[in-house]
Amino acid sequence: MKSPLFLQLHHDNQEAIHLELLAGLQATNAHTSPKYLYDALGSRLFEAITELPEYDLTRLEASVFAEQAGQMRQVPAGAAWIDLGAGNCKKSASLFGRFKPRKYVAIDISVDFLHESMAALQLKHPALDMVGVGIDFSEGLRLPDGVSDPAEPRVLFYPGSSIGNFSPPEAERFLRSVRTACGDHPSSGLLIGVDLVKDARQLEDAYDDALGVTAAFNLNLLRHINQLAGTDFNVRDWRHLAVFNAALSRVEMHLEARATTVVRWQGGERVFRSGERIHTESSYKWTLSDFEALLRGAGFGVCQAWTDSNQRFAVYWAGV
Ligand code: AVI
Repeated sequence: MKSPLFLQLHHDNQEAIHLELLAGLQATNAHTSPKYLYDALGSRLFEAITELPEYDLTRLEASVFAEQAGQMRQVPAGAAWIDLGAGNCKKSASLFGRFKPRKYVAIDISVDFLHESMAALQLKHPALDMVGVGIDFSEGLRLPDGVSDPAEPRVLFYPGSSIGNFSPPEAERFLRSVRTACGDHPSSGLLIGVDLVKDARQLEDAYDDALGVTAAFNLNLLRHINQLAGTDFNVRDWRHLAVFNAALSRVEMHLEARATTVVRWQGGERVFRSGERIHTESSYKWTLSDFEALLRGAGFGVCQAWTDSNQRFAVYWAGV
């Protein structure tokens, strides 16, 4: 039996994170990057979100694959399957029977997240070449040399509508880097899941569920910022808000000060007035035609989309 290889290439720059967070908190419209939502507890809360009745993205994407993977003939078999944000590797693993990759490259910010799941996966697929790579691709994807043979086709896999957490210009820039990472083999391409625009009420409910799991996910960010930037946020002083901004086609998550409150850190402080907000995440919702235009603008060739019967979620194949 083969064993997975692991390469940790990303190392946190604590000083840069500290400065970035404090700059965002001191901006007139305070904001933080959504990547800080995912400490250990935040990642577990996100997994719980995917099981909520209001948050149907994950289930819709699974249903598109379950019902239509047979029609996804453009996706090459025997490819290097490159999983962006692999985590527990479950989504990719569920598709291996259909797409039969020759090699599995699981990418996440830290290989620590990958060890257990890849070891379990190797038991099920003893002959599969497996590599776990720890890189931060939020600013653009650069595959380490040698991770996949340029002579073999590549399937870049980016599910879950994670692309929605980039603004449209950021998304185009990111997708350009993915297009480059696809290489030049004519069968290579990107398999990507995208949440589509729908009714505002449904969108807001998906990001503000009845159980308050998404509220906990958002508020937990304050505990994480306290650890990373030495701030003294009191979680109880804040409340979670989710608003669909139709003009920008995005659901925004904010944290709103319940009353005027002072947040302090070494060498500084900020007064947040009652009702003042910190913008913590945007989740863009796309139309089918706008997303195809985005893929083409990023340099992809032929695109094909499959959706659920109500056109709430799309899976695209974008060939090189
Ligand atoms: C990871 N990402 C695609 C999720 C989303 O829908 O934007 C994160 C999330 N935020 C709140 N609920 C889920």
